[in-house]
Amino acid sequence: MTLDPVDRLLLDELGELPSGRVALIGDEHGALADAVAQLAGGRVVAHHDSVVSERALARTGVEVSPELATALTGAELVVLRLPKSLDALDEIARTAAQVAAADVRLVAGGRTKHMTPSMNPVLAMSFETVRASLGRQKSRVLHASGPRTVEQPWPKHRHHDDLDLTVYAHGAAFAGTRLDAGTALLIGQLHRLEDTEGAVVDLGCGTGILAALLARRFPNVTAVDVSAAAVASTRLTTAGTVETRRADGLTEFADDSVAAVVTNPPFHVGTTKDSTPTLAMIADAGRVLVPDGELLMVFNAHLPYLPRLARLGRTEILARDRHYLVTRTVRG
Ligand SMILES: C[S@@+](CC[C@H](N)C(=O)[O-])C[C@H]1O[C@@H](n2cnc3c(N)ncnc32)[C@H](O)[C@@H]1O
Repeated sequence: MTLDPVDRLLLDELGELPSGRVALIGDEHGALADAVAQLAGGRVVAHHDSVVSERALARTGVEVSPELATALTGAELVVLRLPKSLDALDEIARTAAQVAAADVRLVAGGRTKHMTPSMNPVLAMSFETVRASLGRQKSRVLHASGPRTVEQPWPKHRHHDDLDLTVYAHGAAFAGTRLDAGTALLIGQLHRLEDTEGAVVDLGCGTGILAALLARRFPNVTAVDVSAAAVASTRLTTAGTVETRRADGLTEFADDSVAAVVTNPPFHVGTTKDSTPTLAMIADAGRVLVPDGELLMVFNAHLPYLPRLARLGRTEILARDRHYLVTRTVRG
């Protein structure tokens, strides 16, 4: 675990540490948590949307909160690794303005290439004063102070008449309240799944659209996502009709225990594109699926998943458009 240039700039820009609580949000690997804990001792509470990063934070010994609002409550200083999504930033900023200390300061850093000018007005909706540091090593820090009295629109919701479904979304959830084009193509093929009383898993459930639709037909649906925002959104979208788990892929499922996995898998990890988690998930589907169990998946046609799926079992392409393929694999 080593500090990267954003971590180092954040540490140099922290200013005088308060005597009260410090919230650390968005540190992926724990290096920053370690460094902030050395400065602030036991007053640090850390949160990351991903359970994988949450575990890395816990290994540093800092107190960890799976709830964003709990981590921010009473904080006098918020140290933030900027999320790539403006909606995620908006929810963090509004939550901080509502529940942190009245004199809270927010110090938020990121890689310049992942930052946009729109981040300043997003922060300015929740804080009176927002200013940027000088850039260093392709990194920059935004300082915000003077929390405003703000409304909390998160989670947002939208009714989709075509699905007869109200979709709820926290700021960090994939696609917000929209229906992703790949997800729409996959929805058109859900009827191809065999009937089953067994476990049906929506892997990487996001706002829970697929899980909610699957629950109309299958009695035993579990929605899994690594993201706290996704799981909280899914609970609302599915209105208690499915079980939810915040977990890394299929790791928590036993061998031969799942009748079908349905997924629009991730192709981003944080700010980088990476197919490794999805390739691992395809391999793991072979472990958790019962013989003849099904994997229904949508993915960008240029991604190298077909050979891996074929290794798992008989694979057919059910639908395609200019961007996406929907495949069905039956475990051999
Ligand atoms: C492309 S989105 C699909 C979301 C939703 N199923 C939909 O169709 O709108 C992929 C989802 O996978 C989740 N994810 C990423 N890595 C994961 C992992 N290792 N285990 C479980 N979920 C993961 C992301 O948080 C994201 O919600």
